[in-house]
Amino acid sequence: MATMTWKRHHVLSLADFMPEEYDTILQTAASFREVLSRRLKKVPTLQGQLVANLFFEPSTRTRSSFELAAKRLSADTLNFTPGTSSLTKGETILDTAKTYLAMGTDMMVIRHQQAGVPEAIAAEMDRIGARVGVLNAGDGQHEHPSQALLDLFTITCILDPEKPRIELLKGKKIAIVGDILHSRVARSNIWSLTASAAEVHLAAPPTLLPQFFAEMGSNRAGKLFLHWLVEPALEDADFVMTLRLQKERMENHLLPSWREYHQRYGITRERLKLCKPNVKVLHPGPVNRGVEIASDLMDDPEFSLISQQVTSGVAVRMALLYLMGSSKA
Ligand code: NCD
Repeated sequence: MATMTWKRHHVLSLADFMPEEYDTILQTAASFREVLSRRLKKVPTLQGQLVANLFFEPSTRTRSSFELAAKRLSADTLNFTPGTSSLTKGETILDTAKTYLAMGTDMMVIRHQQAGVPEAIAAEMDRIGARVGVLNAGDGQHEHPSQALLDLFTITCILDPEKPRIELLKGKKIAIVGDILHSRVARSNIWSLTASAAEVHLAAPPTLLPQFFAEMGSNRAGKLFLHWLVEPALEDADFVMTLRLQKERMENHLLPSWREYHQRYGITRERLKLCKPNVKVLHPGPVNRGVEIASDLMDDPEFSLISQQVTSGVAVRMALLYLMGSSKA
């Protein structure tokens, strides 16, 4: 497996990630998974460093996961919550970031409802010569790199728990089903999965899967297919990723009803019969039970990898913080 000296100071998008970078993250996450299985689940790697979680948008698992990852690496953490911050008094986002910088922040983990905010903060940090690493924890409909990396870790660990690596995806069929249009998780996953020689099949109603997604498949090692029916995407699939219908981002009536969506696109036991017999189902959470996925299926450990995704998230985020903290950029 090809690994490398880590050179990225910021992780903002997976669009230009190289296979060796994925393998470095997967291998590093595997070693942190081992740390997390010990009785003493902590290493001194980032002792004395400060990680600030700047979440301008609601989050349960991503924020807790980054906080725990930083703590397991012995870093100090600060959590920012917009409702109780000086943003309500008119402070700009860049000034908020600079306030955290002045307190000695080494890494900023940023989530914002607008695409491009983490990138803008990273550009400002570079401009003023601050050695701060910026990690995109989800920006608008743009990207969510750490979620796609934890999905990749979860999938490759199913294929080889000891040596998760990107080449394991060669020839595998992965279906991504749901609200692709509004999903930063789908976009980051399309980049990571097509960086391998996997076949990625997107499926959604036409209102949630515009034709322009096909462009993301050009010049990639893997192949990308679009379907406006779910069945062809599920046929012989090895993995199915379901995505939440993002009600908060839907301006118009993009769907007749949740019930009709479930009838036509919902992941159910019956539909999974189209897939390979040992198919596994992922969902980044939060889940609309009974809409994008049947409620009982979500809790069935024979099919569902949802809890593993959450567990993997901590090891993968430890890997990201560790690699960025020791970057040779
Ligand atoms: C996703 C997100 O915030 O983009 N959730 C997550 O980070 N676990 C997906 C979603 O909100 O549906």
